[in-house]
Amino acid sequence: IFTQVELAPADPILGLTDAFKADTRTEKVNLGVGIYKDESGSTPILKSVKLAEQKLLATENSKSYLGIEGVQAYNRVVQELLFGADHSVVKNKRALTAQAPGGTGSLRVAAEFLVRNTESKTIWVSNPTWANHQNIFKSASLGIEQYRYYNAQTHDKDFDAMLADLSQAKAGDLVLLHGCCHNPTGIDLNESEWQAIADLCLKQALVPLFDFAYQGFGVGVNEDAQGLRIVADTVPELLIANSFSKNFGLYNERIGAVTLVADSETTVAKAFSQVKSTIRGNYSNPPAHGALIVSTILADEGLSSLWESELKEMRERIAKMRTLFVETLKAEGVTQDFSFISRQNGMFSFSGLTKEQVAELKELHAVYIVGSGRISVAGMTRTNMPVICKAIAKVLS
Ligand code: LMR
Repeated sequence: IFTQVELAPADPILGLTDAFKADTRTEKVNLGVGIYKDESGSTPILKSVKLAEQKLLATENSKSYLGIEGVQAYNRVVQELLFGADHSVVKNKRALTAQAPGGTGSLRVAAEFLVRNTESKTIWVSNPTWANHQNIFKSASLGIEQYRYYNAQTHDKDFDAMLADLSQAKAGDLVLLHGCCHNPTGIDLNESEWQAIADLCLKQALVPLFDFAYQGFGVGVNEDAQGLRIVADTVPELLIANSFSKNFGLYNERIGAVTLVADSETTVAKAFSQVKSTIRGNYSNPPAHGALIVSTILADEGLSSLWESELKEMRERIAKMRTLFVETLKAEGVTQDFSFISRQNGMFSFSGLTKEQVAELKELHAVYIVGSGRISVAGMTRTNMPVICKAIAKVLS
């Protein structure tokens, strides 16, 4: 029976890493997947994480099952990071959170919960968006519509087009919003644009679903939650899928959360019982380690401030790489204006390189970037920068 199964296409992001690993050239660079590298080109375990793990090793006394929703203390700190401890959503107990495996697992739980229990059967995603969004939502049987977001001529957002497209959405439709550091464009909404989106969702009874995977990689932990908090102040119901892969460097611990916000404590409790039922039918209950690391760090003032300083260091290094990237391209004789790259947020830069140029970078120069032209700036270092920029200058000439 398995002979009938067709070969799946390689994943646009993780498939690239497989191809990169198989490449035998020595000067190869992987700027595909969004993984932070330090100046030496490695992905370190944060010091705050190591210290929390030492604490856990000394104190953990059981590997018994967690509840379906995971570590309770973790779920509380997730809400504090998302909304701020004093936000009315937290104070009025209008939100409930379940730990889930990474951003992808959280989005999948949210999508499946919605399809099984609500009238929401269609999700609007930005064009472009993270390559895995369509895959996740299709797997959960959601219909997908796209709203325009990016203007390739100006290398900036097209907010009027976004509003125009979303004004076509019907009551109950879901709107996928990137909390900050939009993946892949690195272009975020400003305060008044967030308010306009929140007002539109309220007016048309649309349900926002936030993908919040880069909190702290834009401007700061609280600053990056501005959009989410504006929307949570405006609409009665929303969902958030967040991830700590990047901001705690916990990629392989698969640690994220799905948070449901409703108009009252009673409604959220009832609806959340179905989120738990969705989880039980998928993986029963989550693994503990990642959640224990995050909650241990955030419960300890010293570890929290160490984590915030490590996060700041990552954010600032990426910002420096953006500037250096633009400067080095110029120094390599590239006349095209790439200054927009230093205005983008987060790990990625949406370069505007074509599919053909991306293929040439990989085939002739062993520089791997995603087919959409998305480059992981977080993978750039002072050492690999000349190699990258020389290669780009060649494919542009
Ligand atoms: C990315 O966009 O590169 C990351 O979110 C990793 C992934 O799973 O695709």
